[in-house]
Amino acid sequence: MRVPFGFVVLLLSAELNATDIDNSSGLIMSPGWEQVRAHCGGCHSYALVTSQRADRNTWLDIIRWMQETQNLWQFQPEVEAKILDYLATNYPPQPNRRRAPIPPSLMPRNMDKVQ
Ligand code: HEC
Repeated sequence: MRVPFGFVVLLLSAELNATDIDNSSGLIMSPGWEQVRAHCGGCHSYALVTSQRADRNTWLDIIRWMQETQNLWQFQPEVEAKILDYLATNYPPQPNRRRAPIPPSLMPRNMDKVQ
């Protein structure tokens, strides 16, 4: 079967634009991810990292908390900066991850009587 060349180019460019996720850790592969892979998967799943959302200060608080209470080791300042930049860039706060409430006008009619 012959596949039109333009179609292949389209598929390839879609592939390149997608965010790359490392298969084994689930981490977004952008600058700093190797440091996070090296330091953040030893005690718990990377999923604990990738499911968290926080700004840089809160990520720092989480790291300090693990250092004070969970035996997390100290980092060289430049390594810590890379880790924090990576986390704050790729897993930033999301103000509201819940859907908005359903407006009353979209509720089923019989709900009026339930109150
Ligand atoms: C020395 C062990 C250790 C290492 C290494 C480690 N952590 Fe943790 N971390 C823990 C423990 C223990 C918990 C608590 C787990 C639980 O609540 O079940 C935790 C919890 C967390 C949580 C959840 C915090 C919360 O408030 O629920 C996040 C996010 C996290 N770690 C991120 C990281 C990141 C990012 C790194 C790398 C910089 C890292 N961890 C490296 C031990 C570690």
